[in-house]
Amino acid sequence: MNDKYVHGYSDKESVRLKDQSVTLGDLLHHDTIYPAGSTVLEAGCGIGAQTCILAGNNPDVHITSVDISPESLKAAKKAVSSAGITNVTFSHEDIFDLPFDKDSFDHIFICFVLEHLSEPEKALLKLKDLLKPDGTITVIEGDHGSAYYHPASEHAQRNIQCLIDIQAHMGGDSLIGRRLYPLLVDVGLRDVSVSPRFVYADASRPGMVEGFTRNTFNAMVEGVKDQAIKLGLIDKQAWDKGVRDLYRTAEDDGTFCYTFFKGVAVK
Ligand SMILES: C[S@@+](CC[C@H](N)C(=O)[O-])C[C@H]1O[C@@H](n2cnc3c(N)ncnc32)[C@H](O)[C@@H]1O
Repeated sequence: MNDKYVHGYSDKESVRLKDQSVTLGDLLHHDTIYPAGSTVLEAGCGIGAQTCILAGNNPDVHITSVDISPESLKAAKKAVSSAGITNVTFSHEDIFDLPFDKDSFDHIFICFVLEHLSEPEKALLKLKDLLKPDGTITVIEGDHGSAYYHPASEHAQRNIQCLIDIQAHMGGDSLIGRRLYPLLVDVGLRDVSVSPRFVYADASRPGMVEGFTRNTFNAMVEGVKDQAIKLGLIDKQAWDKGVRDLYRTAEDDGTFCYTFFKGVAVK
């Protein structure tokens, strides 16, 4: 699985995941509050960037966080213990082969994972099985087709398209956000509700420009440079121009927009 994960597991990617979660913490998580005493499964916790926020916002629930990458789990354990969080248990697991009993969790949380899976429906069905009746599943995904910005640039757009194509080539779907509603309905979940979470960055919001435009989105696109050139999708000169234009949107007269999608559904 590790070689099929487009963003990889580098130190730079860990910093990016952390920046992303801190910058978007309120926007994505403010309404994920579980009743005290609930059991929550976090599927694909990565380095624990969302785990810390989820656990911090829900100190009276017990969270079981799993990931397929042992290195990420190690970082997640460290992040959680540095934050003084004590209500999370980690386990090294594959979402498609989880060892938990049917109907064993009150709630499930999965963020930025389905976009990397070639069978997101199958993953949702596996997770649904583990939910208690009336339990909820919360899914958060992005959609790279939702990125638009000023100044507009064909070169920047080509770089973004390289990321979309590479992820598709690896079996994922970085445009999955717009598909969340039908995905959740098709696996037989009920009361499906998807809310768009709009990110807007301009110079009057320097935290967003730094945390989202530069350190989350542009860093993510930049991360596929070698793969894009190796696959012959673009040449180095065009790539570098695209990167310059992406960072141009983070200057004083630039703007950047992106939409995340948060779905909640009931078993
Ligand atoms: C983009 S990261 C997101 C991590 C975290 N949820 C976050 O938002 O910061 C995707 C994570 O999914 C994990 N993953 C991918 N396929 C998996 C699988 N089959 N089982 C468990 N984890 C998986 C990867 O190892 C990676 O840590």
